[in-house]
This record gives sequence, C-alpha cells and structure tokens, in this order.
Amino acid sequence: LDNGLGLTPAMGWSSWNVAQCASASERYALDTANKFVSLGLKDLGYSYVNIDDCWSTKARDSSGNLVPDPSKWPNGIKSVADKIHGMGLKMGLYGCVGTMTCAGYPGSWGHETQDAKLLASWGIDFWKHDACYTPCTNGQTPQTCWSAAFNTRPWYETMRNALASVKSTKNIMFNLCQWGRDSVWTWGKEVGNSWRIEGDNWQDWASVQRIGSTAGRIYQYSGPGGFNDLDMLIVGNNKLTENQERLHFGLWAICKSPLILGNDLNKISSASLAIIKNKGIIDINQDKLGKSATTFQPPGSGAPVSGKIHPYWAGPLSDGVVIGLVAINGATTMSVNFKDVPGLGSGTYSWKEMYSGRTGSGTSVSFSLGTHDMAVVKVTTSGGSQTTQAPTSSRTSTSAPPQ
Ligand code: DGJ
Repeated sequence: LDNGLGLTPAMGWSSWNVAQCASASERYALDTANKFVSLGLKDLGYSYVNIDDCWSTKARDSSGNLVPDPSKWPNGIKSVADKIHGMGLKMGLYGCVGTMTCAGYPGSWGHETQDAKLLASWGIDFWKHDACYTPCTNGQTPQTCWSAAFNTRPWYETMRNALASVKSTKNIMFNLCQWGRDSVWTWGKEVGNSWRIEGDNWQDWASVQRIGSTAGRIYQYSGPGGFNDLDMLIVGNNKLTENQERLHFGLWAICKSPLILGNDLNKISSASLAIIKNKGIIDINQDKLGKSATTFQPPGSGAPVSGKIHPYWAGPLSDGVVIGLVAINGATTMSVNFKDVPGLGSGTYSWKEMYSGRTGSGTSVSFSLGTHDMAVVKVTTSGGSQTTQAPTSSRTSTSAPPQ
C-alpha cells in the first residue's frame, strides 16, 4: 500500500497465541513492551505491540463507538498507546471486516470510518483486519459462508479508504487477515501493507509446513510496502523442536514475512530467544530490497515432495543473495554450488551461515543438518570479496551443523 509504511516487513508481537481473549489487555501489552526493551528485542527492530481479538466490550456505545473492555483496559487504550510510544515502540489493534470478530466482538462492517477515526485519536499504529462474520450473499448464515468464493477485495478497500481518510491524524499500517482467499497476493499491494497468505498457523509443525509450502509459490508479489504475511511465529511455545524453530524463523525471514512473535516472552527459553534474536537473519528480513526468496532446484537434487517445505531456497538481497537449505526429509548433508543458485554465477564468493556464524569463501557450501534444521547462508556479491574470474577449483567449504 502506498502509504509510506511497511517498506520492510513489520516486526513485533501479537497477543493472540499467548492466551487468546485473555491476553488482549493492558497488562499483556505493557508487559510485552517492557520485555521488548529488557530482552534486547527493541534494539533488534521488534517494535509493534499488537493486541488481537477481544479487546473491546461486546457492544458499541450509544454513539456507535467501540469501547475498550474496562476490565482489560482500566486506563483505556490511549494511555497505554502513549506509554508504548514513550518507550519508542508502536501499538497495534485488531478488528474485522464483518459484523463481528471471530470471537464475537463488534466488527467494523458499516462503521469503518468511525472506527478509523477512533483508532487515529488513540494513536494506533497498526490495524489487523480479520475476515469473520462477513455478509453472506448466498443465503448461508454468516459463520458458514467464510469459505465461499466471495470477492473480499471491496470489503478490504472500504477499510483502506477509511484509514486513508484519517491519515493526516495518524498513518496506520494495514494488515489484511483474509487467509489467502481470492489470490490476495495479486491485489494486496494496492490495499494493504501485508496480507495473510494462508489460514492460521495453528501452532503445530503441520501448519509451518503448509504455510511454508505456499510461500514459495507466490514470492513474486512481495515488495516494499506490501508483503506476504505467513502469520505469527510460534518460536518459543514448545510446539516445535529446536531445529524446526530455526527452520520456521529462517524461512519466514527469507520470505520477507512480517516477523510477529506469537509467544509469551515471560516463558521463552534461552534457545528460542537466541533464534528470534539472530541479527544476521533479521537483517536479511529487513533488507531494503524487500524481495522474497523462492525455491530452486539444483541439478541432481531430486524432486521436491508435495506438501513438504522445499529443500532449496534463494532470494535477492541489496548486496547479495540469501540461500536457505532445509533438511526436510531427515538428517542429511546439503551442498550447493553457487553457480546453480539464481542470482549467482561462476565465481568465488564470501558467505556466512547465520545460525552457526560460520564464514567462508569459495564456489560452494555444504552443511551437515539435523532433521528439519535449516542453514541460512548470506552470499555477498557487492562490497564483499566476490571475484568475477571463472572458478579455479571445485573446493567445497564445509561448516559444522548450525547448532
Ligand atoms: C483468525 C485470525 O486468522 C487469527 O490470526 C486471529 O486473529 C483470530 N482470528 C482471532 O479471533
């Protein structure tokens, strides 16, 4: 969306996974903001503290305005947003295209401009617009027409226009949470700053596989101001192995997804914290080129398996190329010749693997990876030590597994 926001993917946290409705409160918002500072996440770029479904009362007030639930927001929303802004952070809120949110709170249908004005008056920086209780045109009841082939675009344009009408008061980042329907990636850039490409990350490995498989097919639509949203990160929730957490974070990052933590920062292990604090990978996600990685097939690498995350990924960076190697079929050694990587050619390149910190220079890399682990390799092509002469050896640079 051409509103000057989201030129790189948003980084932050969402309340939804922590305790669903129970975590849509001032206590969780301020606690998370404090944790962003004390855990060093703010310094790495995590800035959006986003409150998801259930923050309001179940009914609008007599003027038709949304009302923060006083039991969750004893000081209202604006005072919390002010505090969060005072910490150098940003605050997001959630609503819905339909008449109700998925959890049954008031949706924005017919109230879009009024809601946008209220958000702007509170200083809200980010709005996630969900897709429940949308109007049915096929005679079904609202909850059962979710999956129908509706044209969701005009509904999201209505909210986009409402947000644009308050832009001089507050410029609000706009996230389209419509679960990848209507090929949203083909038009999302004209409507929002990011758009969900799939149904929810249900906090399991199957979801990571499903979303990761989809992401590789629609890489071309992401760019500065409009990114494919692969949904919240579940790193730190004890739902994945440590290897799978590295893969989840690494893949979301190289696909230029918003990096929105869906975890309880009071409970995160040091191993998971190290993953979400990996500066090399965050820098790749935040690269100003804003182009998503996609899959590629080196010679002799075997056919990818449908429904599984592709083993080989590569994407352009402003000063190089990122390569992702995924041990999707079990522990293995994965090698790649740089000449087979899109965006690279015959030559010697310097590289760095971001989880192990290993560096090297050569014409290829090779990593021994545990089951479902990932190597995230940045290959530098400018400002680095790349040479353009033909390779003089087939030496393989070998690194220890990125543990
Ligand atoms: C569905 C969305 O996809 C989730 O991310 C979350 O916002 C829930 N709705 C909240 O009800």
